[in-house]
Amino acid sequence: MTEPKIKIENLYKIFGPNPKSVIGKVQDGMSKQELLENHGHVFGLKDINIDIPAKGVSVIMGLSGSGKSTLIRHINRLIDPTSGKMIVDGDDVLSMDKDQLIEFRRYKASMVFQKFGLHVHRTVAENAAYGLIVQGKPVSEAKQLSQKWIERVGLGGFEGHYPSQLSGGMQQRVGLARALSTDAEILLMDEAFSALDPLIRTDMQDVLLGLQEELHKTIVFITHDLDEALRIGDNIAILRDGAVIQQGDPQDIIMHPSDDYIVDFIQDINRSRVIRLKTLMTPSTSASDSGPELQHTMNLELALPKIANSASKSATVVNEKGEVVGSISLDQIISGITRPDVDTGSSETRYR
Ligand SMILES: Nc1ncnc2c1ncn2[C@@H]1O[C@H](COP(=O)(O)OP(=O)(O)OP(=O)(O)O)[C@@H](O)[C@H]1O
Ligand SMILES: [Mg+2]
Repeated sequence: MTEPKIKIENLYKIFGPNPKSVIGKVQDGMSKQELLENHGHVFGLKDINIDIPAKGVSVIMGLSGSGKSTLIRHINRLIDPTSGKMIVDGDDVLSMDKDQLIEFRRYKASMVFQKFGLHVHRTVAENAAYGLIVQGKPVSEAKQLSQKWIERVGLGGFEGHYPSQLSGGMQQRVGLARALSTDAEILLMDEAFSALDPLIRTDMQDVLLGLQEELHKTIVFITHDLDEALRIGDNIAILRDGAVIQQGDPQDIIMHPSDDYIVDFIQDINRSRVIRLKTLMTPSTSASDSGPELQHTMNLELALPKIANSASKSATVVNEKGEVVGSISLDQIISGITRPDVDTGSSETRYR
């Protein structure tokens, strides 16, 4: 197996006057409430273990206060853990000295913030070049290098504008251009699109996915929005009260929610748009005689009419190379779309 790009191991964070004095108790399972009431400390993160692979989009999702920002800020050590390890590319981030850390933040891991983090008195061009200027590049060279990214995020022609003259979506494009200009392999995005209107937000997700197809960065993306997580995540870790309660790929989480909390979490998503044929199909290498041939990455929403309209009410599933990898029936599609918490046993279908 290849080494993860970022390895988070047994990470704990406790906030309060003397976290080290209570870490043992927390590791032994003391509750959040007891920690607060009897010891005056706040739970931040509890025994986090996540391997973040290179060149993928890893989403960390959870409700407000679940510890998402606390976690992502450990990756570039804006926060020090109470105990645990943070390894990036085999290097121990926690043992880096001040200079190494500055280097790490400038060249290795760029951050994109929810509130955009732009300098209001600087133009788009100056903001986009900022990361490079901080790296020590002369201003003219920095601007020249970042121009490509201004254009790539769709802001060509706006170089001389100030942030206040731009919409939220455009401001976040500047934030993205700034992060991309530094050439950092890792992008840390803390609710980067959460302040945007739904349509603009979907646009920005598309921009990010388009860039990612080309650039293959290691992206750690924080969101409290499951639809966003499912749309862009190659893998997802779900946090609750500072602990990871499930991690896996999106298909895995939808098909096998680990507990009632996750079941509640996923109940409103559009299953037919998220679940792909490869998740539901019956593996097989022989094609059926009738029925259409469908790509294994196709979602159920697109596959359903094709299968429903076929005489056999089934389809052959193929991979990118056109090789047969399975078969799928209308019944399988329908059971995949049906939520696991829906009682199908009674005559009256009941939703929780
Ligand atoms: N400096 C701090 N001192 C004390 N408690 C803190 C501190 N920073 C965070 N916390 C606590 O840690 C928990 C997690 O906070 P965090 O900001 O990581 O949540 P979040 O998931 O990012 O939430 P949001 O979605 O609202 O941004 C919260 O209970 C918060 O009160
Ligand atoms: Mg946060």
